[in-house]
Amino acid sequence: MKKILALVLALALCITCASAFADKVGVAMPTQSLQRWNQDGANMKEQLEAAGFEVDLQYANNDVAMQVSQIENMILNDCKVLVVASIDGGALDTVLGQAKDAGCIIIAYDRLLTGTKNVDYYTTFDNYGVGKIQGQYVEQKFDLANTDAVYTIEFTGGDPGDNNAGLFFGGAYDVLKPYLDAGKLVCVSGQVNFDQIATPNWDSAKAQSRMDAILTGYYPDALTGGQKLDIALCSNDSTAQGVSASLQQFGYTAENIPVITGQDCDKASVINMLAGLQAMSIFKDTRTLAAQTVAMVKDLLAGNAPEINATYDNGVFEVPSFNCTPVFADLDNYQELLLDSGYYTAEELGL
Ligand code: GAL
Repeated sequence: MKKILALVLALALCITCASAFADKVGVAMPTQSLQRWNQDGANMKEQLEAAGFEVDLQYANNDVAMQVSQIENMILNDCKVLVVASIDGGALDTVLGQAKDAGCIIIAYDRLLTGTKNVDYYTTFDNYGVGKIQGQYVEQKFDLANTDAVYTIEFTGGDPGDNNAGLFFGGAYDVLKPYLDAGKLVCVSGQVNFDQIATPNWDSAKAQSRMDAILTGYYPDALTGGQKLDIALCSNDSTAQGVSASLQQFGYTAENIPVITGQDCDKASVINMLAGLQAMSIFKDTRTLAAQTVAMVKDLLAGNAPEINATYDNGVFEVPSFNCTPVFADLDNYQELLLDSGYYTAEELGL
């Protein structure tokens, strides 16, 4: 009995010592109001702890001042590495400067930290490529390269403080602009500049009320023989959910709702896809992004060069980055991408 007690005490002492010396990693996430960031935070915590790190995971409720304060505390708590998914990528230079002065390594997570030299690396998905895939999905769905038909389209972008949002819109717009120029696509509202279509905080309700105004202002008789909307290009799922809700409230159903694009494969959007109320979503496996980021943390703390396959100009310098590869999910491939891969269970999708 005494030997067992001694072993248990020795084991407890080892665990205590190990945790006392484990490198600490701060993970600063923007919000829990959008599904994916909860997955990102959980994946990062699980994978970092499995790699032997201590983790300080914080969510800032889309409040920039709160995120600054959380990062300050991570610095005070001796975090060796800060993994930051910013709310406003251009608002953190001062606190990141404090982090660098304290010797922290700073990794921008999925959203580029801009206008600052105080960032070391960036891990994300190919953001311009996300938009390009959305544009190509529309191009192929309507056979724009070959048809003589004319289709109407409206754009819904993301948060203006999120560097990704401009890249998403730019990737899609660069594919579709030739068709707008040729008159094969018509944006009846005329809202084709990013600042006209941006959605603060990617907020579903804001996307919904903007679409409400567009439908009543430009497509009022769509369901009684008048000008109808064919395509709603949305940069992510939270805005797509707002746009889909607006269209359904206007009277559209799964039988005649416009083609709606999205991104993140949020449960609510995949369920909408299964019900015919959203056409597609870009799948960015948050497990993959977390694994890539954790590998980078391990390399950096071991003094090794991390894997890099891209750079992003953040307005101060070309940030060495790793682009994971996005793909699109729709009714034809969601089984393989989302269920067979274990990303979701059938029950989670109401199947
Ligand atoms: C972006 C992210 C997208 C989308 C959006 C809203 O930065 O890359 O995947 O989720 O934020 O969270």
